[in-house]
Amino acid sequence: MTNKLNSLLTHSFCVLFILIAAVTKGVSQKPVKVFILAGQSNMQGHGEVEKGEKGNLTWIVKNDKNGKYQHLVNKNGGWTKRDDVFITTEDKYNVKRTTELTVGYGASEHTIGPELEFGNVMGDYYTNDVLIIKTAWGGKSLAVDFCPPSAVSKRGYNKLPGAPKDTGYYYVQMLATVYDVLENIQKYVPDYKGEGYEIAGFGWHQGWNDRVNQSAVDVYEKNMAHFIRDVRRDLGAPKLPFVIATTGMGGWKEEHPRAVALMKAQLAIANYPEFKENVAVVDTRDFWREIEESPSKQNYHWNRNAETYLLIGKSMADAMTNILSDNSRNKISQKIREATYSENRILAPTPPMGWNSWNSFKQEINENKIREIADIIVSSGMRDAGYRYLVLDDAWMGPKRDAKGELMADSIKFPAGMKAMGDYIHSKGLKYGIYECRGLKTCQGLPGSLHHEQTDMSSFADWGVDYIKLDACFAEKNGRLTTEDLAIYRDAIKKTGRPMILSISDFGQGGWAWGGKNYGQLWRTSMDIYPFIESVYNCAETSGGAGSIHPGFNGLWQFAGPGHWNDPDMLQIGNLKNATEDKVHFSLWCMLAAPLMAGNDLRVMSDSVKNILMARELIAVNQDSRAQQGYRVFKQDNIEIYNKPLADGTTAVLLLNKGHDIANITVNWKQVGLKGKQKVRDLWEEKDLGTFKDSFTAKNLGQHGHMLIKVGKEGSKPLAGPEPLSPEKYTVTNVGTTYLSDLYYIMKEYNAPVVDKSFKGKAFNLNGRSYEKGLGCKSISALMYKLDGKADRFKAIVGLDDASPDGKTGKFRVLVEDKFGGRAIYDSGIIEKKDGGKEVDIDVKNLDFIMLEFTGKGVYGNWVDARVEVKK
Ligand code: GLA
Repeated sequence: MTNKLNSLLTHSFCVLFILIAAVTKGVSQKPVKVFILAGQSNMQGHGEVEKGEKGNLTWIVKNDKNGKYQHLVNKNGGWTKRDDVFITTEDKYNVKRTTELTVGYGASEHTIGPELEFGNVMGDYYTNDVLIIKTAWGGKSLAVDFCPPSAVSKRGYNKLPGAPKDTGYYYVQMLATVYDVLENIQKYVPDYKGEGYEIAGFGWHQGWNDRVNQSAVDVYEKNMAHFIRDVRRDLGAPKLPFVIATTGMGGWKEEHPRAVALMKAQLAIANYPEFKENVAVVDTRDFWREIEESPSKQNYHWNRNAETYLLIGKSMADAMTNILSDNSRNKISQKIREATYSENRILAPTPPMGWNSWNSFKQEINENKIREIADIIVSSGMRDAGYRYLVLDDAWMGPKRDAKGELMADSIKFPAGMKAMGDYIHSKGLKYGIYECRGLKTCQGLPGSLHHEQTDMSSFADWGVDYIKLDACFAEKNGRLTTEDLAIYRDAIKKTGRPMILSISDFGQGGWAWGGKNYGQLWRTSMDIYPFIESVYNCAETSGGAGSIHPGFNGLWQFAGPGHWNDPDMLQIGNLKNATEDKVHFSLWCMLAAPLMAGNDLRVMSDSVKNILMARELIAVNQDSRAQQGYRVFKQDNIEIYNKPLADGTTAVLLLNKGHDIANITVNWKQVGLKGKQKVRDLWEEKDLGTFKDSFTAKNLGQHGHMLIKVGKEGSKPLAGPEPLSPEKYTVTNVGTTYLSDLYYIMKEYNAPVVDKSFKGKAFNLNGRSYEKGLGCKSISALMYKLDGKADRFKAIVGLDDASPDGKTGKFRVLVEDKFGGRAIYDSGIIEKKDGGKEVDIDVKNLDFIMLEFTGKGVYGNWVDARVEVKK
């Protein structure tokens, strides 16, 4: 901040003002102003600092008669360093270099470019911190390297730019670099504390490489216009101020027809009606310095004259501040974007949102389709509505690993490779998700990650992956418990140093139960979702009600929170029968704070589907910062009511009719923690409905008809949430004997047990002997109980109830944790009812979870007196 204070002091403002200014700036509360400076070697900058006799920076500062450049030198005769302007560059070796703005951030540490004076002017202009992102690569043309997608065709590039010679490769690299910096802004602006940033302007200085051939000159003007439009769209900044500095080398003496034509094309841009308000072109021919006054004869680098670069930078900045300060143009001011500050940075603080390829494309994915999807996520407005993760599901990989054992892209589907795919996705301001499987093979039989965990996670990190969907096909053959397996991935990801979300995809095998949050950010809570409404309801059932969890929990809400989410699987919106079904699907997922991963083919998305996916007041419920998952407060037959208390003191309420008959559904305020008169807003219609006393009734709801309303006064004290279940209900907490029939199972598969009765509903009967306590099962049933490492022994008598049909068999097993581990600590072998009861007495010391598994066909299996014992 000292630079700003100095400049204020020299302008002799009153002391009070300085104090106020110091307070507001000193803590850097204002959003960072971000400027992008892009182009080829002109923008890299070759103004010599010391080399040569004349025209180098040292010489210029010494011979600075008018005192124009004294701010570049500090009291000790060194180069000034600003603590309010920061620069990061890709230099000629493509190394990112970052610092407080100073001399030496041209193409190399011996040179300067336009950034120096551009930054100085901007730093003085704003009381905010300024960040300059300079992306420039020498020798690049607009016709090929920087060619913007819309200049190629309406549908963008014909081919994913994967190699440096490909059309658009540097356009993609430029934006991917910008987004990478913004994502990690704290690394570049050291005093950043989470105040957000604003992309404030874009500077372009380029052209030399186009002027070498006529066809490139011919398309320059058109391409430049596309470039501005595309950059604005891709950066989500529709009126982003642009300043173009012409490729003025040769100065006013330059007569080569191609050079003259190119500059003319550049100058013409400013006169386009669409660009008039906020695009300026600076003619740089005045800044040409002759060879005799310059460090070098190399004219294509402006003779390496430092003053040339100072002047280009200053003139660009002046044009920029001219745009920015013109009141009539102030409407262009860009939105403030959030970028979290790392001390409290967690992955997935709210449920991840994005798109996944599986539900619409299955194995039929390729780089062109994905590229188009990325484009549409941006152009449709989905990105800006929150859909950030673009996840490639199964079948992106080739059938074999390479010689080093590394995963390879399917060379037909993804010829440019997975890194190029990621760069493209990043260049759109999206995040890159990829699928793998912890089994030997993926669900589609392609190479899985088993025994290649670190290699694969490192490949993903190298490719710039941000999100890993980790499937579980064949994982039961791994010989590892789920938690052992996942710890390997968690640690491997950590070792890469790249933050990557781990999405645990295991068909709903109890991630909430065995502590998915210790390994990843989300876990499946159901089997795969299919494009029909019954499947949608089924998938939501565990998270929002019973399903695979004991009904006593009333859903999984107590296991969700910032950085750890229940995932009832990806969206089928757009794949269902009609808008009514699509809407109810979205409402449920928003209420359940479920990840919102669109799964429709966005290329053929109707307006209705788009409006559903982008319903902003619903998305706000899903992404609410309180991160309280919604829960069911009422269920009778086909009528259900869910409640989700929000951060602003209101609550979202879903009134849902799943049945055929038309219904009126009433929510009483006391069901949602309110009373008296309350404001009600319809979140689908985005309309206030008025004030309602004690209750609200949604009328005439047909099948799958529903209303999602927001109730209460914004800004009031947040409502109390639901009470988490006390651990004694589902965990072993007492010394002595605990009957499992007195605990809630935390996860189940297939049939729920009957408590303290056989499945027939009678006392247990084993070979004529009758018992009172235990768990009654039928056919197949697997029950997970939480021991929390506290129990010493598990004891029971197992056998087929006398009510079972003759001659049929069954089998009892006790597994450590879940079925994926396949680690049985007890196995009854196949038994018949005539075998009577078998004693089980096994060591369960230090086990967190056990699973009781009964398998039989049409027989009644009894876990009589099933209990754990805890020694004193
Ligand atoms: C499993 C997952 C699905 C999908 C497929 C891909 O079934 O649950 O979401 O990833 O594999 O093969």
